[in-house]
Amino acid sequence: MVTKDGNFLRENNARHQLHPMIHPLISEENPPQIIVKGDGYNVTDIDGNTFVDGIGGLWNVNVGHNRAEVKAAIAAQMDEIAYYSSFAGTTTAPSIELSAKIIEMSAEENMAKVLFSANGSDAVETALKLSRQYWKLEGQPERTGFISLKQGYHGIQFGGTSVNGSTYYRNVYGPLLPGCYQVDSPWSYRNPYSEDPQELSDAIITQIERVIQHNGANTISAFIAEPVQGAGGVIVPPAQFWPALRKLLDKYDILLISDEVVTGFGRSGSMFGARGWGVKPDIMCLAKGITAGYIPLGATVLNERVMSAWTKGVDPNGFIFHGYTATGHALGCAAANATLKIVEDEDLPANAKAMGDRLLKGLQDIPNWSSLAGEVRGKGLMVGIDMVADKKTREPIDPGKGQGEMTAGFAREEGVIVRPAGSNIIISPPLTIDAEGVDKIVDGLNKAFRKYEEVK
Ligand SMILES: Cc1ncc(COP(=O)(O)O)c(C=O)c1O
Repeated sequence: MVTKDGNFLRENNARHQLHPMIHPLISEENPPQIIVKGDGYNVTDIDGNTFVDGIGGLWNVNVGHNRAEVKAAIAAQMDEIAYYSSFAGTTTAPSIELSAKIIEMSAEENMAKVLFSANGSDAVETALKLSRQYWKLEGQPERTGFISLKQGYHGIQFGGTSVNGSTYYRNVYGPLLPGCYQVDSPWSYRNPYSEDPQELSDAIITQIERVIQHNGANTISAFIAEPVQGAGGVIVPPAQFWPALRKLLDKYDILLISDEVVTGFGRSGSMFGARGWGVKPDIMCLAKGITAGYIPLGATVLNERVMSAWTKGVDPNGFIFHGYTATGHALGCAAANATLKIVEDEDLPANAKAMGDRLLKGLQDIPNWSSLAGEVRGKGLMVGIDMVADKKTREPIDPGKGQGEMTAGFAREEGVIVRPAGSNIIISPPLTIDAEGVDKIVDGLNKAFRKYEEVK
């Protein structure tokens, strides 16, 4: 409910609020669009314009906006109790129900326990810290290092920033955690090795093995990666990569953390992203789609192998000295219980796959005529358009020049909101989108890239 009128909101937009991922002076100069309503895969702004939500909030509103079931679940829980602690000694009903549901849904991955938090960055921080605690309990306390992929995004805490693979997230906040190593990402469009999927996968696996051997496997706690790299530009690895990665990590006894903050609960076309590659991680980080954004919630899920360090007996070092006031938040868990029911009842992973294929097909021709679009790629409803300064060398555009914002602005004029991020345009609508919605996005983006050609 808005208590202030439209003029107040327009005048104060970006005046007092800092917005992530933009310079404060730029957002003051060009304030963000004020979104006031959402329904299904559409959103409406303060001026009454309605758009297809091609971002899905921030690739999290997977069940669509304004779902009666989720709203009712939150309201019903609010009538009982909005919050109570989940620290030692007390808990709440929705968190018990949700923990059982997540372990049921991840039975295929042999998951055993879940630790709740408030968002994806917390889920990553929890995973990194518990992986270190695991090794301390296992009698190998020197296993503290982490390996990750360049272009990877793992949220914004110091741990997640330390394993982040994009320098601009890292440089201004250093110094970061020691013992974090980034290797090249298995990115077929931009790599110095090969476009052949097998050769590329082999090259990256070899590089990871060299890092392990160089530092000593006995210093590495875990490898963390996204099954499809999202914020870094929707980078889909070769199908061989994740199974080969799992094999390599097993050889050196290193834990695999799958950062499923975006891919979890269907976005990449399978219930979990790693499952789509036929791989069982040791730890999964979940957030975003778990509540479809209705209430913030994160979850870190640990498999039986990891939990075995805790089940040997009560060791003082085994206390979980990690948790948040919001851990197990009753409203977040109630929202998640309703959301995951929709995900299963409507088989949203299958719809993400079908609609994602349609979206990719509809956009695939753009690089053939556009001077800006180098490649369209994706998996499920994670799709990216890679924008290049030079089509031959595939040199990415300089994001500072504003071509991405300009093209996204043209799409907005066509009634479609998409997200310019670095040198990519990212498309990630709610997983409930239908063919009509996908076709509107396809049409809007084709027109936007055409318009860019006219005005560039
Ligand atoms: C793969 C991945 N991990 C972690 C995060 C951090 O999640 P949050 O923004 O909820 O803290 C994100 C956010 O986009 C993400 O894409």
